[in-house]
Amino acid sequence: MKRPWIEIYAMLLVSMIGIQSVHSESAISPTGKQLYQAYCSQCHGLEGDGFGVNSYDLDVAPRDHTDTDEMSARTDEELFKAVKFGGKSVNKSVLMPAWEGNLSDDEIHRLVAYLRQLCCTEAR
Ligand code: HEC
Repeated sequence: MKRPWIEIYAMLLVSMIGIQSVHSESAISPTGKQLYQAYCSQCHGLEGDGFGVNSYDLDVAPRDHTDTDEMSARTDEELFKAVKFGGKSVNKSVLMPAWEGNLSDDEIHRLVAYLRQLCCTEAR
C-alpha cells in the first residue's frame, strides 16, 4: 500500500531545510571580530596585540592593533587599503598579505571597524 504522507512529509522537510539555509546565510554573516579571529589572529594575535603564533617566525613584527597612538595615526582608508591590497600597497612589509581575493569589501569594512574597536575603545 502506498503511503503518500511519507513523501509529503519528506518534501516538507526538504523545503524547510532549504528555507532555513537561505535564511541562516544572511543571518550569520560573520562579524569583524569573527573575521579577525579566523584570518588575522595567527599573525596579529587573538587579542590583536601582534603576538599571534606566526609572529615569532616573521622578520617584520605584525602591527599591534591595540597600539592606540600608532593606529590613530592611520585613516580608515589606509587600513582598508592595507588589508585589501596588502602591506606593500601602504609601503609596509609584504609579509602582510593582500586579502582582496578572499574577503569582500563589506567584510574588510567590518574588519576596519573592528580594528578601531581594538585600538581605540575599551570594548574588545
Ligand atoms: C601572515 C601574517 C599576517 C596575517 C595573516 C595578517 N597580517 Fe596584517 N600585518 C602583518 C605584518 C607582518 C604587518 C606589519 C607590516 C609592517 O609593519 O611593515 C601587518 C600589518 C597590518 C596592517 C597595517 C598596520 C599599519 O601599521 O598601518 C593592518 C591594517 C593589518 N595588518 C591588518 C590585518 C588584518 C585585518 C588581517 C586579517 C584579514 C591581517 N592583517 C592578517 C602580518 C599579517
